[in-house]
Amino acid sequence: MSTGPTLPGAPFLARLQGELRLEGHSLDELARRFGTPLFVYSRAAMLSALAAYQRALAGRPHLVCYAMKANSNLAVLQTFAAAGCGFDIVSAGELARVLAAGGDAARTVFSGVGKRRDEMAAALAAGVRGFNVESEGELRVLDEVARAHGVRAPVSLRVNPDVDAGTHPYISTGLKSNKFGVAHDRALAVYQLAASLPGLRVAGIDCHIGSQITQVEPYLDALDRLLDLVEAVEADGITLHHIDVGGGLGITYTDESPPAADVLVARLLARLDARGHGHREVLLEPGRSLVGNAGVLVTEVLYLKPGEVTNFCVVDAAMNDLTRPALYDAYMGIEPCTQQPDVKAQRWDVVGPVCESGDWLGRQRDLAVAPGDRLAVLSAGAYGMAMASNYNTRPRAAEVMVDGDAAHLIREREKVADLFAGERLLPR
Ligand code: LLP
Repeated sequence: MSTGPTLPGAPFLARLQGELRLEGHSLDELARRFGTPLFVYSRAAMLSALAAYQRALAGRPHLVCYAMKANSNLAVLQTFAAAGCGFDIVSAGELARVLAAGGDAARTVFSGVGKRRDEMAAALAAGVRGFNVESEGELRVLDEVARAHGVRAPVSLRVNPDVDAGTHPYISTGLKSNKFGVAHDRALAVYQLAASLPGLRVAGIDCHIGSQITQVEPYLDALDRLLDLVEAVEADGITLHHIDVGGGLGITYTDESPPAADVLVARLLARLDARGHGHREVLLEPGRSLVGNAGVLVTEVLYLKPGEVTNFCVVDAAMNDLTRPALYDAYMGIEPCTQQPDVKAQRWDVVGPVCESGDWLGRQRDLAVAPGDRLAVLSAGAYGMAMASNYNTRPRAAEVMVDGDAAHLIREREKVADLFAGERLLPR
């Protein structure tokens, strides 16, 4: 029995005999075994998403650096590291995770607008591949830290190309008004400064224009702006080895139709070739597009509260588990784990137990549900668990990775006692 429209996450996510399955595993069964709320990821789905990038880049000098902020579970990092992927990190904490998962610092780039000295030192000690530097101030501090360590830090400037990625304002980063990157018209001068500092070695150029981008054009515009700069910087005698186009490729949550990763990459490579830059190493920093549709959040229906204006379906997952709807007004698909042919579908707002009206996972959804049923929030592999909090003293969910016949618990459910283990009562 099929469900009609294709599910985001297909072919790894599919409905069979009324039951929603990820890589063949019944989500209801996993929920019975591991409890709810529960994040479930498909290893095959992650590897397939990575393979699309790698296929398109084959034969070119390249490095795919998974932007691990999207989902930083060690088993996820381990999966990508074993497949030859590098990492894009934004903190010393993320670096520690890469190393704990068996990732290679030499294939790791350090991004972020506010790196601390101790984080720079940790990254230099680990031997990261490079730093994506976002300001003159940061450049000078990195120079000092590197000299104190007796090394030269490889740097790329993250340039703000001032293009509109056409996405939500909170996740758009490539406009002049955003806090990110070095302004395009300042970049040449900042490269000259970088080249003059003895603790630095100029390695490349970088940009990242935003997230959940569904068009190729903003990437091509940004690439053109970057190449203009590369030409100006090299004319000035400073060599740039790599071009890092950042991440940001969108996924299908509902009716978006972003380009496939291999289509995007082919268009980027064609533009590089057309402008005579085909020999350069290409770096990419995808996050969401590698993991978003590889995961779901399974939650149990606690109560149905039909109302005069709105019917509420109260579930055991909340904004602390999955904050995207509350934070960005994001739409995420919601599907019953098992279809209930005897229950009549009604229109529900799917809400969590947290004491905020903004605590919702989906609004105005037609669902045939009863208390005790389980729902799957789709496309929850990216920026789900990674953004989870303990608000309302709610332990964070467990995470499971399915892999062929096996289902591995890759993160235990947090215990309440863990939540205040670091707190202290005042002396009496
Ligand atoms: N590189 C840099 C420097 C980034 O800041 C980001 C994401 C990425 C790469 C990866 O972008 P992606 O491929 O995942 O779009 N929490 C938001 C998304 C925030 C993205 C932050 N930066 C959400 O849930 O939509």
